[in-house]
Amino acid sequence: MALLLLALSSAMMGSPSLYTGFSLWPFLIIILCHLLLLPLFHPLQHKLAAAQTSPSSPSALSSPPAASIAGTKPQNWTWCVDSADNLALCQQMIKILVSIDPNTDHAHSCVRTLEGDEACMEMIRNGEAMFSVFDGGEIWEAYNLYNLIPIRTQHSDIDGSPRYYGVGVVRAGGCPSSLFQLRGKRSCHTGYGRASGWTLPITFLLNNKIMPLITKNASKMHDIQSVEAFFKKSCAISEESSNGICTSCKITSQCNDDDRYYSYAGAFRCLVEDSGDIAFTKGTIPSLFAEGGIFADTSWENLQPPSHYKLVCPNSSCADVDQYKSCNFGSAPGHTIMVSNQLDKSHIEAFHNVMDDAVTNAAYVKLFSSASSSGSGFASGVSRSSAYNGTVQELLGHLYQTILDLDHFNSLNSTSLSSSSNSSSLCTALSIVLLWWMIFFNSKFLCT
Ligand SMILES: *[C@@H]1O[C@H](CO)[C@@H](O)[C@H](O)[C@H]1NC(C)=O
Ligand SMILES: *[C@@H]1O[C@H](CO)[C@@H](O)[C@H](O)[C@H]1NC(C)=O
Ligand SMILES: *[C@@H]1O[C@H](CO)[C@@H](O)[C@H](O)[C@H]1NC(C)=O
Ligand SMILES: *[C@@H]1O[C@H](CO)[C@@H](O)[C@H](O)[C@H]1NC(C)=O
Ligand SMILES: *[C@@H]1O[C@H](CO)[C@@H](O)[C@H](O)[C@H]1NC(C)=O
Ligand SMILES: *[C@@H]1O[C@H](CO)[C@@H](O)[C@H](O)[C@H]1NC(C)=O
Repeated sequence: MALLLLALSSAMMGSPSLYTGFSLWPFLIIILCHLLLLPLFHPLQHKLAAAQTSPSSPSALSSPPAASIAGTKPQNWTWCVDSADNLALCQQMIKILVSIDPNTDHAHSCVRTLEGDEACMEMIRNGEAMFSVFDGGEIWEAYNLYNLIPIRTQHSDIDGSPRYYGVGVVRAGGCPSSLFQLRGKRSCHTGYGRASGWTLPITFLLNNKIMPLITKNASKMHDIQSVEAFFKKSCAISEESSNGICTSCKITSQCNDDDRYYSYAGAFRCLVEDSGDIAFTKGTIPSLFAEGGIFADTSWENLQPPSHYKLVCPNSSCADVDQYKSCNFGSAPGHTIMVSNQLDKSHIEAFHNVMDDAVTNAAYVKLFSSASSSGSGFASGVSRSSAYNGTVQELLGHLYQTILDLDHFNSLNSTSLSSSSNSSSLCTALSIVLLWWMIFFNSKFLCT
């Protein structure tokens, strides 16, 4: 920069005797400018190169990753869960499974981790647990980083759909005339990184530049910074406490999955109880939990009938809450049971045999038709499931691209990207100005 100023000033004061040297200045400046910028470019290029070879790149999909740690204990059908609700549900579930299971050569058990779903992924990879149930937003991570494979997916009891929709719910009176009006409002999310409550709507808002991408703080995920800057307050609990936003949660200081506003129903409750202006949750939730719905809970403050709530569509219009199949930010596969890719096929077959019986078992259906479960594991009101043997990419569908887009927003080292591109374009712009000035000066000089 100093060189540039020097160049400019000497050019301004330049005498005709310097004429021949002048025409070289712009080129010299371009070279010097870029040389000075090289160290700035370096981390960026490194980052981009890393992103290209990172397992998130689509090429990684074609060949399934090899398990680094093999070996599960097939004699023990252990389910890994990450919340107290899911542990209670799991324990009730395995009692039913034991009564159905004809094989006595394995035990059924449940194990709870306190460190979130990633800890479950790790336990399965290490052979310390056999199964866990993951949200659409977590399936990719489980596959990509922990070599887990999907074997069974849940279907909605409500509409039989193997996918669920990510919607934005507002109070009918609070329907924005444009999505840009959501800025400064309070948001409620099922959880950080969850499909319907985070990945689908936040990627949509970022992709469409409704929510600006904020990358100021190098030690914070960009999507979190962007949400914090766009919304006044939010509740998006993460099992990794460092990633949670809890300014609009029920208990702001606690910030964990025991919060009332966690998960699908919790995000809607956050809106109902006026801790938020928009709730990002699953499409079936408002009808089920609003007044008169089959899961309506009278302990919720200020609960109103479904007509009191509206869905915000991507085109900024609003629709009734039962229109979630046409008014949504995208869909995700049902919660999916995943296992180690090292698990023997015969065990998977035995498992499907037991589960196929379970989904028609009255006690099992009753257990999973209730509203009791929360979190990213077993979903409320979902008792049906069926075997899945396709690829992870097929399972995720368009959610796969959404996950890659959000990964890109998060890994893009925008600080160095924008500053180096700004500085380099600054260099070029200044050089061009200088060049034009030179031509002008020269022609004037030649004419006189
Ligand atoms: C199965 O795993 C659970 C949890 O890891 C453990 O508590 C239990 O003892 C195991 N049972 C058998 C028979 O290995
Ligand atoms: C950046 O993020 C970290 C982690 O969330 C936080 O501790 C720190 O205060 C933030 N820095 C600024 C300047 O906001
Ligand atoms: C961006 O690059 C700088 C310099 O290499 C690094 O310190 C910082 O952690 C990076 N930020 C992110 C979000 O990767
Ligand atoms: C916006 O999208 C909704 C849902 O897809 C649709 O019903 C409505 O007609 C659309 N409105 C406009 C103005 O395009
Ligand atoms: C997957 O399931 C389909 C339909 O049930 C079946 O035809 C196919 O053979 C299965 N593929 C594998 C690899 O098991
Ligand atoms: C680079 O330029 C863009 C657009 O002109 C601006 O939004 C951004 O803040 C700039 N970045 C830096 C680091 O100055």
